[in-house]
Amino acid sequence: MNVSSLQILPDAAQGYDQAATVLRDGGLVAFPTETVYGLGADACNDHAVARIYDAKGRPSFNPLIVHFANLDAVKQHVKWTAEADLLSQTFWPGPLTLVLPKKPTSPISRLVTAGLETLAVRMPAHPTARSLFTAFGGPIAAPSANRSGQISPTLASHVIQGMEGRIEAVLDGGPCAVGVESTIVGLTDKPVLLRPGGITEEQLRDCLGRPIAIRKNAEAISAPGQLSSHYAPTAAVRLNATEWNAGEMRLGFGDVACDLNLSPQEDLVEAASHLFDYLHRLDSKGHPVIAVSPIPHHGLGVAINDRLSRAAAPRDTGS
Ligand code: TXA
Ligand code: MG
Repeated sequence: MNVSSLQILPDAAQGYDQAATVLRDGGLVAFPTETVYGLGADACNDHAVARIYDAKGRPSFNPLIVHFANLDAVKQHVKWTAEADLLSQTFWPGPLTLVLPKKPTSPISRLVTAGLETLAVRMPAHPTARSLFTAFGGPIAAPSANRSGQISPTLASHVIQGMEGRIEAVLDGGPCAVGVESTIVGLTDKPVLLRPGGITEEQLRDCLGRPIAIRKNAEAISAPGQLSSHYAPTAAVRLNATEWNAGEMRLGFGDVACDLNLSPQEDLVEAASHLFDYLHRLDSKGHPVIAVSPIPHHGLGVAINDRLSRAAAPRDTGS
C-alpha cells in the first residue's frame, strides 16, 4: 500500500487528536514509547493490523504486542493472574510486556496474535504514548516501527527514513530513553523470561521473590509464530487448490466460488486481514479438509503462504 505523505504530528493535544483520528480511520501511526518507537494500528481492526505487516515487509506473521492506557482495559482482554498483579504493580507503566491467555470474548484481531491463544500486553510509561492512548480510547497493536531486518527506531527521523510512503503519520515525541525493547515475560504457566529488555532479570527476581526461568530457544523468543506449537487447524490443509473436491471446506482467493473468500479482488492486505479468522471459521465446521486457492507469492502473499504451508505441514502427533 502506498501512502502519499507521512505527516509529522506535534507532541501536543492537537497531535494526539489527529493521530487518534488516523487510527480510527484504519491508518498507521508511529509513536514514541520509553523503549523504542512503535508502529501503531487499531488492534481490533483486521485490515489496519494487516497493514502493519505490509508496512514492515515481514515475510511471516510474528504476533504483536498490544498497548493499553490502564489496567482495567488490559483485564478486559486477558485472563489475569496473581503474578501478573505483582509484576504490573511494580513495573507498570514501564518497559515490561506480559504474555497471558487471551479471553475468548476479546475483540482483538486474530492477526495480532497470528492465531495464538495468548496475548502480549504492555502499558508504556512514555507520556506521549499515554496521551495518544487516552485520545484513541482503545487497544493499539504496535511492533517496533522499523522495516523487517532493520534496527529499532529511537527517533522520529529513524521512523521517517524507514517508513516514508508506508504509514500515515508519526507522533514526534523526541528520543526514546531506554533504547532497547521491553522485557517480555510469559505468564501462561510459571513465569518465564521470553525476551530480555528494559527490566532486568534481577529486577524480576526481586519482585517475584524467586529466580525466573529463561527461555533458551532463541527461535522461540524471536518468532513464536514459527513454532510447531503454533495454531494449526484441526482439519488438514490442501494448498494451491485450483479445483475443489467433494466434502472440502473451500477457502478462496480471487474470482472463485467457495465457502469464504480471502479477497475476491485479489488484494493481499485484505487477504491477510481475513486469514486467521477464516481458517478458524472453516475449521469449526468440522470437515476433514480445508482447500485453499493459490496465493500470489509477493508482498504480503509471502507471509500468507508461509502461514498456510505451516498449517498444511504434517502434524507432530507427539508420538
Ligand atoms: O518495547 C517494545 O516492546 C516495543 C514497543 C513498540 O512497545 N515493541 C516491540 O515489538 O518490540 P516487536 O513486534 O518488535 O516485538 C514483539 C515481540 C516479538 O518477538 C513477538 O514474537 C513477541 O513480542 N510476542 C508477541 N506476542 C506474543 C505472544 N502471544 N507470545 C509470545 N511472544 C509474543
Ligand atoms: Mg522489533
